[in-house]
Amino acid sequence: MNFQWYPGHMTKAKRQMQEDMKLIDLVIELVDARIPLSSRNPDIDELGRQKARLILMNKADLASENQTRRWSDFFRNKGYFVVKLDARTRSGMKGINDVIMEACREKMERDRKRGIKNRPVRAMVVGIPNVGKSTFINTFAGKACTKTGNKPGVTKGKQWIRLNKNVELLDTPGILWPKFEDQRVGLYLALIGSIKDEILNIDELSLELIKILKENYPGILAERYDVAEEAEPPDILMQIAENRNCVKKGSELDYSKAAALTLDEFRSGRLGKITLEFPEEQR
Ligand code: G4P
Repeated sequence: MNFQWYPGHMTKAKRQMQEDMKLIDLVIELVDARIPLSSRNPDIDELGRQKARLILMNKADLASENQTRRWSDFFRNKGYFVVKLDARTRSGMKGINDVIMEACREKMERDRKRGIKNRPVRAMVVGIPNVGKSTFINTFAGKACTKTGNKPGVTKGKQWIRLNKNVELLDTPGILWPKFEDQRVGLYLALIGSIKDEILNIDELSLELIKILKENYPGILAERYDVAEEAEPPDILMQIAENRNCVKKGSELDYSKAAALTLDEFRSGRLGKITLEFPEEQR
């Protein structure tokens, strides 16, 4: 995690992805279900045009189930296949194979008409750092897979993971860069812990989190920290510091400790299943 992007990185990543796109039928894009738009880079729509598209709403275990459903509808209405997921467990993987076949049905039909039989669907996983790409590949591929490489027509050194007789997966995921131009994107990525904490002001960040929770998840702060939610965020943070005994030497309240504690409890899911951005906010 903890990524910083430079123009050089982006150009190289983009060129690599353009090359890889030539080899595949299906783009499997992972987004973070807590921030489904801020954790994607819409440039993938241009890079992956004419490919079948599957969006995996990953870390769904940490996101509001209701909002994940609404976001899934949002993406489906735009023509993507969508599956929600906790990439760390095998349970969500069963349905993915079926959705992959469904997403590639047109391509297989075209192959069949041209007399091409049994050519597996080739897919590649893409996403910004820390969305769970490697976790997904490991869990999805599991132990049963066999690696194949250096086939005719495949760039030398490319490794394909054969998932079953129908599907092959490129073993290295494509890394997309976040779209930092919008300030909210930077804020959301920081809140979920994808940007180094040291370069951010923890106190400010926790106040933003408190503001979002207060507005969209009434009762959560009151229940967990026994605070009066109608107070302003800085006062709420003060109450958290008091109630959780966050004190410096000399019994002065330690706001930064309370801020770090709140962020940590949000990120680990201890505050509940919380989505930070909502489909209705989008243009
Ligand atoms: P990347 O390849 O896209 O960069 O992401 P990676 O798989 O390395 O996953 C980043 C972190 O997210 C890992 O945690 C991983 O365990 C966690 N993760 C991946 N998928 C899920 C999910 O669906 N739900 C939850 N809750 N977490 C997920 P880490 O803290 O970096 O490592 P560790 O805690 O696993 O040791």
